Amino acid sequence: MRTDDQTWAAIDAETERQERQLELIASENHASAEVIAAMGTALTNKYAEGYPGRRYYGGCEHVDTVEDLARDRVTELFGAERANVQPHSGTQANMAAFMAICDPGATVLAMSLDHGGHLSHGHPKNFSGVFYDFHHYGVTEGEEVIDMDEVRDKALALRPAVLIAGASAYSRTLDFEAFSSIAKEVGAKLMVDMAHIAGLVAGKAHPSPIPYADVTTFTTHKTLRGPRGGAVLAEIDVIKKVNSALFPGGQGGPLMHVIAAKAIAFREALAPEFEAYAARVVQNAGAMAARLQERGLRIVSGGTDNHVMLVDVDAKGLSGRDAEDLLHSVEITCNKNLIPYDKRPPMEASGVRLGSAAITTRGLGVDDCVTLADCIADVLEAPTDESVAARVRGAIGELAKSYPIYPEGLATGA
Ligand SMILES: Cc1ncc(COP(=O)(O)O)c(C=O)c1O
Repeated sequence: MRTDDQTWAAIDAETERQERQLELIASENHASAEVIAAMGTALTNKYAEGYPGRRYYGGCEHVDTVEDLARDRVTELFGAERANVQPHSGTQANMAAFMAICDPGATVLAMSLDHGGHLSHGHPKNFSGVFYDFHHYGVTEGEEVIDMDEVRDKALALRPAVLIAGASAYSRTLDFEAFSSIAKEVGAKLMVDMAHIAGLVAGKAHPSPIPYADVTTFTTHKTLRGPRGGAVLAEIDVIKKVNSALFPGGQGGPLMHVIAAKAIAFREALAPEFEAYAARVVQNAGAMAARLQERGLRIVSGGTDNHVMLVDVDAKGLSGRDAEDLLHSVEITCNKNLIPYDKRPPMEASGVRLGSAAITTRGLGVDDCVTLADCIADVLEAPTDESVAARVRGAIGELAKSYPIYPEGLATGA
């Protein structure tokens, strides 16, 4: 039953926007109708501070079942010993991980934000940069890949308590074994933030960090295609500390409706089809990157091994912000992004970050991705040509119509 016309109008418009446009924001995806349905249930009413079997409120027998399902499934999915599925977001998963494995003020070495790292890996205005002593490694100037010798040299010089592997805008495979050996050599804990690649790890399209990391954090809503949220994986001794770091440490009551949606998403990721999905995500990104390069656009590091690519638009005389706006005007959504050694400020940037997870979910294949890359190149080559924009808008509209996200619709109270 709907009574709030104003809010529902905006919700409906957003659902329609997602159907109409092609989503290339690398950190987004389209969760299944079942995952979305779970979030619109009576579980949102329930307070459940604590953990299954040890709650501070009565009436938790059913939400205990839900949280146990989510924890069991996610440990099975990643082959981990223990899990905490309560983080409201990736940032809160990271906060809990830091609290569990190091003390305030500890030295932490992570990937530089300017080279693809994340805000919660030491941005001065983020809690991480406020409460910990962050230092950063980057990518090389020529090849634009992480130089493990540089990581080792910095680790040897700094002797950090924690070494972090993981990024928001890095298109190459992360060598967890090499990170682990550096961490061991300098006596650091290895934390892997696999927020972006969790779905690829689950679908065996990227090596797993679990054999190497002391603690692994991730978001559930990117390549993993679940509800918006976070999770932490670790062995029992560390997860006990993560549990108290989350509650009572950094969060109050868990979002049980979201944890139910996580349980459903983990089940989906355990199904054999998910491996095929992860493989297609990587193929589609590769096809798009290759075509963009054929069309004269530079891809940072020369390509992609995963779902992400950074397109340098500076050579076309555009800023990342210009490119984001141009693509938005033809129904392609993406985000401006700094490229390594960028000379522009972050709100302008010289690149756009593109990702293949969401378009792969709606069914686009390699040929469609080549068409899409041509559309992108056409628009970026002729930014002021309205006839090109009109043709591309039409082509994107056709693609979007051919691959509806929710062909059966969504149960949203209409
Ligand atoms: C590597 C990495 N870690 C953490 C996060 C934080 O996730 P959230 O936005 O859910 O806090 C992100 C989000 O983009 C990310 O890319």
